[in-house]
Amino acid sequence: MAPPRRVCVTGGGGFIASWLVKLLLSRGYAVHATLRDPCDPKNVHLKQLDRASDNLHLFKADVLDCETLTRAFEGCEGVFHLATPVPEDKIIDPEAEVMAPAVKGTSNVLKVCLAMKVQKVIVLSSTAAVDFNPNWPQGRLKDESCWSDKEFCKENEDWYSVAKIVAEQASREYAEKNGLTVVTLCPPLVFGPLLQPMVNTSSKFLIYVIKGGPDVMNNKLWHMVDVRDVADALLLVYEKAQSSGRYICAPNNIFTKDLVDLLKKMYPKYSYVNNIIDVEHKAPITSQKLRDLGWEPRKLKETLWDSVQCYEKAGLMQDSAGRPFRLPHLFRLAGDQ
Ligand SMILES: NC(=O)c1ccc[n+]([C@@H]2O[C@H](COP(=O)([O-])OP(=O)(O)OC[C@H]3O[C@@H](n4cnc5c(N)ncnc54)[C@H](OP(=O)(O)O)[C@@H]3O)[C@@H](O)[C@H]2O)c1
Repeated sequence: MAPPRRVCVTGGGGFIASWLVKLLLSRGYAVHATLRDPCDPKNVHLKQLDRASDNLHLFKADVLDCETLTRAFEGCEGVFHLATPVPEDKIIDPEAEVMAPAVKGTSNVLKVCLAMKVQKVIVLSSTAAVDFNPNWPQGRLKDESCWSDKEFCKENEDWYSVAKIVAEQASREYAEKNGLTVVTLCPPLVFGPLLQPMVNTSSKFLIYVIKGGPDVMNNKLWHMVDVRDVADALLLVYEKAQSSGRYICAPNNIFTKDLVDLLKKMYPKYSYVNNIIDVEHKAPITSQKLRDLGWEPRKLKETLWDSVQCYEKAGLMQDSAGRPFRLPHLFRLAGDQ
Protein backbone atom coordinates (compact mmCIF):
# COMPACT_ATOMS: atom_id res chain seq x y z
CA MET A 1 0.00 0.00 0.00
CA ALA A 2 1.25 3.53 -0.83
CA PRO A 3 2.21 5.61 2.22
CA PRO A 4 -0.31 8.35 3.14
CA ARG A 5 0.18 11.85 1.69
CA ARG A 6 1.88 13.97 4.36
CA VAL A 7 1.04 17.62 5.08
CA CYS A 8 1.63 20.11 7.89
CA VAL A 9 -0.88 22.50 9.52
CA THR A 10 0.63 25.42 11.46
CA GLY A 11 -1.22 26.49 14.62
CA GLY A 12 -2.95 23.10 14.54
CA GLY A 13 -4.87 23.51 17.81
CA GLY A 14 -6.78 26.66 16.76
CA PHE A 15 -10.48 26.91 15.88
CA ILE A 16 -10.17 26.61 12.09
CA ALA A 17 -7.02 24.48 12.13
CA SER A 18 -8.63 21.81 14.34
CA TRP A 19 -11.40 21.30 11.76
CA LEU A 20 -8.81 21.15 8.98
CA VAL A 21 -6.75 18.56 10.88
CA LYS A 22 -9.93 16.51 11.45
CA LEU A 23 -10.82 16.71 7.73
CA LEU A 24 -7.32 15.77 6.58
CA LEU A 25 -7.20 12.76 8.91
CA SER A 26 -10.62 11.62 7.67
CA ARG A 27 -9.32 11.78 4.08
CA GLY A 28 -6.35 9.55 4.90
CA TYR A 29 -3.59 12.17 5.12
CA ALA A 30 -0.73 11.91 7.59
CA VAL A 31 -0.78 15.26 9.41
CA HIS A 32 1.96 17.19 11.17
CA ALA A 33 0.40 19.86 13.41
CA THR A 34 2.56 22.63 14.89
CA LEU A 35 1.71 23.89 18.37
CA ARG A 36 3.60 26.34 20.54
CA ASP A 37 2.94 24.05 23.51
CA PRO A 38 1.84 20.50 22.69
CA CYS A 39 1.39 19.78 26.43
CA ASP A 40 -1.08 22.64 26.98
CA PRO A 41 -4.48 21.14 27.91
CA LYS A 42 -6.08 23.45 25.31
CA ASN A 43 -4.67 21.14 22.60
CA VAL A 44 -5.88 17.87 24.11
CA HIS A 45 -8.80 17.56 21.64
CA LEU A 46 -6.41 16.87 18.75
CA LYS A 47 -5.33 13.51 20.13
CA GLN A 48 -8.98 12.49 20.41
CA LEU A 49 -9.71 12.95 16.69
CA ASP A 50 -10.44 9.82 14.62
CA ARG A 51 -7.23 8.29 13.21
CA ALA A 52 -5.09 10.67 15.32
CA SER A 53 -3.27 7.85 17.07
CA ASP A 54 -1.88 6.57 13.74
CA ASN A 55 -1.66 9.62 11.52
CA LEU A 56 -1.34 12.79 13.63
CA HIS A 57 2.08 13.99 14.74
CA LEU A 58 2.41 17.01 17.01
CA PHE A 59 5.44 19.32 16.73
CA LYS A 60 6.44 22.04 19.16
CA ALA A 61 7.08 25.02 16.87
CA ASP A 62 6.82 28.78 16.76
CA VAL A 63 6.47 30.59 13.43
CA LEU A 64 9.16 33.00 14.61
CA ASP A 65 11.67 30.14 14.85
CA CYS A 66 12.69 28.60 11.49
CA GLU A 67 14.47 25.63 13.03
CA THR A 68 11.31 24.42 14.71
CA LEU A 69 9.40 24.86 11.42
CA THR A 70 12.04 22.87 9.54
CA ARG A 71 11.53 19.89 11.85
CA ALA A 72 7.76 20.11 11.45
CA PHE A 73 7.80 20.36 7.61
CA GLU A 74 10.23 17.45 7.12
CA GLY A 75 8.73 14.97 4.65
CA CYS A 76 5.63 17.08 3.91
CA GLU A 77 4.40 17.62 0.35
CA GLY A 78 2.11 20.48 1.43
CA VAL A 79 1.80 23.08 4.19
CA PHE A 80 -1.33 24.85 5.41
CA HIS A 81 -0.29 28.02 7.20
CA LEU A 82 -2.96 29.07 9.70
CA ALA A 83 -0.97 30.20 12.78
CA THR A 84 -1.63 33.89 13.40
CA PRO A 85 -2.92 35.49 16.57
CA VAL A 86 -6.47 36.89 16.38
CA PRO A 87 -6.36 39.23 19.40
CA GLU A 88 -9.52 39.77 21.37
CA ASP A 89 -8.38 42.85 23.31
CA LYS A 90 -7.23 46.27 22.13
CA ILE A 91 -3.76 45.92 20.62
CA ILE A 92 -1.17 47.91 22.58
CA ASP A 93 2.03 46.81 20.81
CA PRO A 94 1.12 46.12 17.15
CA GLU A 95 4.61 44.95 16.19
CA ALA A 96 4.88 42.30 18.88
CA GLU A 97 1.22 41.28 19.08
CA VAL A 98 0.32 40.89 15.39
CA MET A 99 2.80 42.27 12.86
CA ALA A 100 5.74 40.02 13.76
CA PRO A 101 3.81 36.74 14.10
CA ALA A 102 1.69 37.42 10.99
CA VAL A 103 4.27 38.98 8.65
CA LYS A 104 7.61 37.58 9.82
CA GLY A 105 5.87 34.31 10.72
CA THR A 106 4.41 33.91 7.20
CA SER A 107 7.71 34.85 5.58
CA ASN A 108 9.51 32.24 7.74
CA VAL A 109 6.97 29.58 6.79
CA LEU A 110 7.43 30.31 3.07
CA LYS A 111 11.24 30.39 3.32
CA VAL A 112 11.31 27.02 5.07
CA CYS A 113 8.79 25.59 2.56
CA LEU A 114 11.04 26.66 -0.32
CA ALA A 115 14.12 25.20 1.35
CA MET A 116 12.32 21.92 2.12
CA LYS A 117 10.90 21.67 -1.44
CA VAL A 118 7.29 21.71 -0.26
CA GLN A 119 5.13 21.43 -3.41
CA LYS A 120 2.16 23.62 -2.45
CA VAL A 121 1.48 26.08 0.36
CA ILE A 122 -1.97 27.31 1.38
CA VAL A 123 -1.88 30.54 3.39
CA LEU A 124 -5.00 31.46 5.34
CA SER A 125 -5.49 35.19 4.89
CA SER A 126 -8.76 37.02 5.62
CA THR A 127 -11.36 39.27 4.05
CA ALA A 128 -9.65 41.84 6.31
CA ALA A 129 -7.16 41.94 3.41
CA VAL A 130 -9.97 42.40 0.84
CA ASP A 131 -12.80 44.37 2.27
CA PHE A 132 -11.56 47.65 3.80
CA ASN A 133 -11.14 49.75 0.69
CA PRO A 134 -12.83 53.17 0.74
CA ASN A 135 -11.91 53.75 -2.93
CA TRP A 136 -13.77 50.71 -4.26
CA PRO A 137 -16.66 51.89 -6.49
CA GLN A 138 -19.89 52.02 -4.48
CA GLY A 139 -22.17 49.03 -5.05
CA ARG A 140 -19.63 47.10 -7.17
CA LEU A 141 -19.24 43.51 -6.00
CA LYS A 142 -15.85 42.98 -4.34
CA ASP A 143 -13.85 40.11 -5.79
CA GLU A 144 -10.24 38.88 -5.53
CA SER A 145 -9.00 42.00 -7.35
CA CYS A 146 -9.99 44.15 -4.35
CA TRP A 147 -7.33 44.75 -1.69
CA SER A 148 -7.90 46.51 1.62
CA ASP A 149 -6.19 49.87 1.89
CA LYS A 150 -3.29 49.48 4.32
CA GLU A 151 -3.01 53.21 5.09
CA PHE A 152 -6.75 53.41 5.75
CA CYS A 153 -6.50 50.51 8.22
CA LYS A 154 -3.45 52.10 9.89
CA GLU A 155 -5.36 55.37 10.37
CA ASN A 156 -8.08 53.36 12.09
CA GLU A 157 -5.47 51.55 14.20
CA ASP A 158 -6.86 48.31 12.79
CA TRP A 159 -3.57 46.45 13.27
CA TYR A 160 -4.93 42.96 12.74
CA SER A 161 -6.10 43.96 9.22
CA VAL A 162 -2.79 45.70 8.49
CA ALA A 163 -0.97 42.49 9.48
CA LYS A 164 -3.20 40.30 7.29
CA ILE A 165 -2.85 42.65 4.28
CA VAL A 166 0.94 42.82 4.52
CA ALA A 167 1.29 39.06 5.16
CA GLU A 168 -0.88 38.15 2.16
CA GLN A 169 0.75 40.65 -0.22
CA ALA A 170 4.20 39.46 0.85
CA SER A 171 3.14 35.82 0.27
CA ARG A 172 1.99 36.60 -3.27
CA GLU A 173 5.25 38.46 -4.01
CA TYR A 174 7.42 35.73 -2.50
CA ALA A 175 5.61 33.03 -4.49
CA GLU A 176 6.07 34.89 -7.76
CA LYS A 177 9.72 35.73 -7.16
CA ASN A 178 10.74 32.24 -6.05
CA GLY A 179 8.46 29.99 -8.09
CA LEU A 180 6.79 28.57 -4.97
CA THR A 181 3.16 27.48 -5.42
CA VAL A 182 1.20 29.53 -2.90
CA VAL A 183 -2.59 29.87 -2.79
CA THR A 184 -4.23 32.28 -0.35
CA LEU A 185 -7.75 31.92 1.05
CA CYS A 186 -9.72 34.84 2.50
CA PRO A 187 -12.57 33.99 4.88
CA PRO A 188 -14.67 36.60 6.71
CA LEU A 189 -16.12 36.00 10.20
CA VAL A 190 -15.95 32.27 10.89
CA PHE A 191 -18.54 30.54 13.11
CA GLY A 192 -19.54 26.95 13.73
CA PRO A 193 -19.07 24.26 16.36
CA LEU A 194 -15.86 24.33 18.38
CA LEU A 195 -13.62 21.28 18.56
CA GLN A 196 -11.15 23.02 20.89
CA PRO A 197 -11.88 23.67 24.58
CA MET A 198 -11.05 27.43 24.45
CA VAL A 199 -13.38 29.96 22.80
CA ASN A 200 -11.72 31.81 19.92
CA THR A 201 -12.27 35.48 19.05
CA SER A 202 -14.74 35.15 16.13
CA SER A 203 -16.98 32.78 18.11
CA LYS A 204 -17.09 35.45 20.83
CA PHE A 205 -18.64 37.82 18.28
CA LEU A 206 -21.66 35.50 17.87
CA ILE A 207 -21.91 34.81 21.61
CA TYR A 208 -21.96 38.58 22.20
CA VAL A 209 -24.75 39.14 19.64
CA ILE A 210 -26.87 36.53 21.44
CA LYS A 211 -26.07 37.41 25.04
CA GLY A 212 -25.91 41.17 24.59
CA GLY A 213 -23.81 43.49 26.73
CA PRO A 214 -22.52 47.03 27.11
CA ASP A 215 -20.86 47.44 23.68
CA VAL A 216 -22.66 49.22 20.86
CA MET A 217 -22.76 47.41 17.50
CA ASN A 218 -22.92 48.93 14.03
CA ASN A 219 -25.72 47.76 11.76
CA LYS A 220 -23.09 46.68 9.25
CA LEU A 221 -23.22 44.16 6.45
CA TRP A 222 -21.17 41.33 8.00
CA HIS A 223 -19.77 38.50 5.91
CA MET A 224 -19.81 35.01 7.44
CA VAL A 225 -18.78 31.45 6.74
CA ASP A 226 -18.96 28.09 8.50
CA VAL A 227 -15.70 26.74 9.93
CA ARG A 228 -16.38 23.35 8.29
CA ASP A 229 -16.72 25.08 4.90
CA VAL A 230 -13.41 26.90 5.46
CA ALA A 231 -11.74 23.53 6.11
CA ASP A 232 -13.36 22.16 2.92
CA ALA A 233 -12.15 25.21 0.97
CA LEU A 234 -8.59 24.84 2.27
CA LEU A 235 -8.46 21.21 1.18
CA LEU A 236 -10.17 21.97 -2.14
CA VAL A 237 -7.66 24.64 -3.15
CA TYR A 238 -4.87 22.31 -2.01
CA GLU A 239 -6.07 19.32 -4.02
CA LYS A 240 -7.14 21.12 -7.21
CA ALA A 241 -4.06 21.37 -9.39
CA GLN A 242 -5.48 24.38 -11.24
CA SER A 243 -6.07 26.55 -8.14
CA SER A 244 -4.01 29.75 -8.15
CA GLY A 245 -3.82 33.20 -6.61
CA ARG A 246 -6.30 34.20 -3.94
CA TYR A 247 -9.81 32.94 -3.16
CA ILE A 248 -12.56 34.65 -1.19
CA CYS A 249 -14.78 32.29 0.84
CA ALA A 250 -17.55 34.57 2.11
CA PRO A 251 -20.90 33.03 1.16
CA ASN A 252 -23.19 34.88 3.58
CA ASN A 253 -23.87 38.62 3.90
CA ILE A 254 -26.20 39.83 6.65
CA PHE A 255 -26.83 43.09 8.56
CA THR A 256 -26.50 43.00 12.35
CA LYS A 257 -30.21 43.70 12.88
CA ASP A 258 -31.23 40.94 10.44
CA LEU A 259 -28.82 38.54 12.14
CA VAL A 260 -30.43 39.29 15.51
CA ASP A 261 -33.93 38.75 14.02
CA LEU A 262 -32.89 35.46 12.44
CA LEU A 263 -31.30 34.18 15.66
CA LYS A 264 -34.28 35.27 17.78
CA LYS A 265 -36.56 33.05 15.68
CA MET A 266 -34.26 30.09 16.28
CA TYR A 267 -33.36 30.77 19.91
CA PRO A 268 -35.94 33.16 21.47
CA LYS A 269 -34.83 32.71 25.10
CA TYR A 270 -31.70 34.94 25.02
CA SER A 271 -31.42 38.72 25.67
CA TYR A 272 -29.60 39.72 22.44
CA VAL A 273 -27.67 42.88 21.71
CA ASN A 274 -30.09 45.81 21.53
CA ASN A 275 -27.79 48.79 21.06
CA ILE A 276 -27.32 48.75 17.27
CA ILE A 277 -26.64 51.92 15.31
CA ASP A 278 -27.08 52.41 11.56
CA VAL A 279 -23.95 53.02 9.45
CA GLU A 280 -23.12 53.35 5.75
CA HIS A 281 -23.59 50.15 3.77
CA LYS A 282 -20.62 48.61 2.08
CA ALA A 283 -20.55 46.55 -1.09
CA PRO A 284 -21.07 42.80 -0.84
CA ILE A 285 -18.36 40.28 -1.63
CA THR A 286 -18.44 37.39 -4.11
CA SER A 287 -17.04 33.87 -3.64
CA GLN A 288 -17.71 32.90 -7.27
CA LYS A 289 -14.08 32.01 -8.01
CA LEU A 290 -14.11 29.41 -5.23
CA ARG A 291 -17.59 28.15 -6.17
CA ASP A 292 -16.32 27.65 -9.73
CA LEU A 293 -13.69 25.31 -8.27
CA GLY A 294 -16.50 23.19 -6.77
CA TRP A 295 -16.95 24.71 -3.29
CA GLU A 296 -20.47 24.25 -1.88
CA PRO A 297 -20.87 26.04 1.45
CA ARG A 298 -23.80 25.35 3.76
CA LYS A 299 -26.62 27.80 4.59
CA LEU A 300 -26.11 30.41 7.33
CA LYS A 301 -29.06 29.05 9.34
CA GLU A 302 -27.35 25.68 9.73
CA THR A 303 -24.12 27.34 10.87
CA LEU A 304 -25.94 29.46 13.45
CA TRP A 305 -27.99 26.53 14.72
CA ASP A 306 -24.98 24.25 15.11
CA SER A 307 -22.88 27.01 16.71
CA VAL A 308 -25.43 27.73 19.42
CA GLN A 309 -26.02 24.01 20.05
CA CYS A 310 -22.29 23.68 20.66
CA TYR A 311 -22.07 26.80 22.88
CA GLU A 312 -24.99 25.56 25.02
CA LYS A 313 -23.42 22.11 25.42
CA ALA A 314 -20.13 23.70 26.48
CA GLY A 315 -21.91 25.92 29.06
CA LEU A 316 -20.89 29.12 27.25
CA MET A 317 -24.35 30.68 27.20
CA GLN A 318 -24.71 30.80 30.98
CA ASP A 319 -24.35 34.06 32.92
CA SER A 320 -20.73 34.82 33.68
CA ALA A 321 -21.03 35.56 37.43
CA GLY A 322 -22.39 39.09 37.04
CA ARG A 323 -19.57 40.21 34.71
CA PRO A 324 -20.94 41.43 31.37
CA PHE A 325 -19.83 39.62 28.22
CA ARG A 326 -17.89 41.97 25.91
CA LEU A 327 -17.70 42.28 22.14
CA PRO A 328 -14.07 41.54 21.12
CA HIS A 329 -12.30 44.81 20.40
CA LEU A 330 -11.56 43.73 16.83
CA PHE A 331 -15.26 44.06 15.97
CA ARG A 332 -15.75 47.43 17.64
CA LEU A 333 -13.64 49.26 15.05
CA ALA A 334 -15.61 51.96 13.28
CA GLY A 335 -13.81 52.68 10.02
CA ASP A 336 -14.49 49.67 7.88
CA GLN A 337 -15.98 50.70 4.59
N1 LIG B 1 -11.88 33.07 12.93
C1 LIG B 1 -12.08 33.96 11.98
O1 LIG B 1 -13.14 34.59 11.92
C2 LIG B 1 -11.02 34.18 10.92
C3 LIG B 1 -11.39 34.87 9.77
C4 LIG B 1 -10.44 35.08 8.77
C5 LIG B 1 -9.17 34.58 8.91
N2 LIG B 1 -8.83 33.92 10.05
C6 LIG B 1 -7.45 33.41 10.13
O2 LIG B 1 -7.51 32.03 10.44
C7 LIG B 1 -6.35 31.64 11.18
C8 LIG B 1 -6.76 30.88 12.42
O3 LIG B 1 -7.61 31.68 13.19
P1 LIG B 1 -8.65 31.05 14.26
O4 LIG B 1 -9.88 31.86 14.18
O5 LIG B 1 -8.71 29.60 14.12
O6 LIG B 1 -7.95 31.52 15.61
P2 LIG B 1 -7.33 30.74 16.86
O7 LIG B 1 -8.21 29.63 17.28
O8 LIG B 1 -7.02 31.79 17.86
O9 LIG B 1 -5.98 30.15 16.27
C9 LIG B 1 -4.84 30.93 16.08
C10 LIG B 1 -3.65 30.01 16.13
O10 LIG B 1 -2.46 30.73 15.87
C11 LIG B 1 -1.45 30.21 16.72
N3 LIG B 1 -0.35 31.18 16.90
C12 LIG B 1 -0.42 32.45 17.25
N4 LIG B 1 0.82 32.99 17.28
C13 LIG B 1 1.69 32.00 16.96
C14 LIG B 1 3.10 31.89 16.82
N5 LIG B 1 3.93 32.94 17.07
N6 LIG B 1 3.65 30.71 16.46
C15 LIG B 1 2.87 29.65 16.25
N7 LIG B 1 1.52 29.67 16.37
C16 LIG B 1 0.94 30.84 16.72
C17 LIG B 1 -2.17 29.92 18.00
O11 LIG B 1 -1.41 29.02 18.73
P3 LIG B 1 -1.29 29.11 20.33
O12 LIG B 1 -2.37 28.23 20.79
O13 LIG B 1 0.06 28.60 20.60
O14 LIG B 1 -1.48 30.53 20.75
C18 LIG B 1 -3.48 29.34 17.48
O15 LIG B 1 -3.36 27.96 17.25
C19 LIG B 1 -5.57 32.93 11.44
O16 LIG B 1 -4.58 33.05 10.44
C20 LIG B 1 -6.63 34.02 11.25
O17 LIG B 1 -6.05 35.25 10.87
C21 LIG B 1 -9.72 33.70 11.06
